[in-house]
Amino acid sequence: MRILLLGSGGREHALAWKMAQSPLCTQLFIAPGNAGTVKLGINCPIAVTDFEAIATFCLTEHIEMVVVGPEEPLVKGIREYLTDYKGLETLKIIGPGQEGAQLEGSKAFAKAFMERHGIPTARYKEFSATNYEEGVAYLKSHPLPIVLKADGLAAGKGVLICETLAEALQGFESMIREARFGEAGKKVVVEQFLNGIEISVFVLTDGKEYVLLPEAKDYKRIGVGDTGLNTGGMGAVSPVPFVDKTLWDKIEKRVVVPTIHGLKKDGIPYCGFVFIGFMIVNGDPYVIEYNCRMGDPETEVVIPRLASDLVVLLHAAATGTLQEVSLQLDPRTACAVVAVSGGYPGDYQKGYPITGLDQTQEALVFHMGTTLEKGQVVTSGGRVLAVTSFATSVAEAATRSQAVQHAIQFNDKYCRTDIGYEFS
Ligand code: AMP
Ligand code: GLY
Repeated sequence: MRILLLGSGGREHALAWKMAQSPLCTQLFIAPGNAGTVKLGINCPIAVTDFEAIATFCLTEHIEMVVVGPEEPLVKGIREYLTDYKGLETLKIIGPGQEGAQLEGSKAFAKAFMERHGIPTARYKEFSATNYEEGVAYLKSHPLPIVLKADGLAAGKGVLICETLAEALQGFESMIREARFGEAGKKVVVEQFLNGIEISVFVLTDGKEYVLLPEAKDYKRIGVGDTGLNTGGMGAVSPVPFVDKTLWDKIEKRVVVPTIHGLKKDGIPYCGFVFIGFMIVNGDPYVIEYNCRMGDPETEVVIPRLASDLVVLLHAAATGTLQEVSLQLDPRTACAVVAVSGGYPGDYQKGYPITGLDQTQEALVFHMGTTLEKGQVVTSGGRVLAVTSFATSVAEAATRSQAVQHAIQFNDKYCRTDIGYEFS
């Protein structure tokens, strides 16, 4: 099968690494890819939102399956664009249509979906310019902390956790009246704060059947001990030690099954990944977000743990035959440690040469923000690369990944040194 993978991050490097191992994958293209994906297929300089260029590429290269990595093209309707394109009617696409992608694209849509289908989540109310004063009154009467979420896509930045009423009122005003998170963010979901432990669960579905992939825990803050600003993710572990059968059953029965049924009931076709972000409160799962794609860096620990052929799974999702496949897992623990450019998640420099990439032995190195300049791998993003190692415990896997990170160098490199700390 000739496959085109869209994206350029660590998630795509991990997906490409796994797909390239499949005997079913005869040719892999990555658009635009990074300095890591060049070794696994052919990088094509096409932006993930350039639908016309992607469609033309699919036609000329006889692409049979497109795997969409990031959310933006999904929310913008790449599935509809490609399936409506003359000559691409039979193209298989991994990634939902525009309506399904609203699970991530609109917090208000996701909350209404959960409410409609009885899926446990934080209590909420929705406000915009039309009921602004009602919103102010609601904030004043609500216990603290309180969570404000911009409705639309905000690259992970549209959530404010407010400890004081003044902060909440100011955040509310700046979102609705000053469009702090853009036009789509002028609608605000105000949500009860849930105090618990976050984990992520990944589902591959064809809209009817599903396969549950292993869970992961992401480390979102920049600083050691979960301090400082939020990032895209500084590391991840899978499996998560406290996720036992009882919790897994609750997750599946209370959330995964009603989510897939809900999509079916609402008449929303869905072929692709659903990433469910959970807060586990006193042993009970609550959904804090849906994403219509895999997570990054969670993919860098989840995908290496699959013993099954990923292309077989994706093909089954695309052809509605997921009930015929089963998932085999590597029982070991995987831990990914991410290296970022100094200054991230604020301003940072790009273009620094990366050395030591050939000294990584048994670990997997997934490029997140790298590019090739005259044959040299250089930094090109805030998050630069993830090192994933396997071991029988989180502590051992983390130690191995940290050791490999020591061997890799670039100017102003920074890693969290405590990924997996609470499980040691
Ligand atoms: P989201 O973009 O919805 O994933 O939110 C970003 C982060 O904000 C999450 O990863 C959580 O750490 C936090 N968060 C979101 N919603 C809540 C909530 N209701 N209670 C506590 N923390 C939350
Ligand atoms: N690591 C969180 C995300 O991919 O959204």
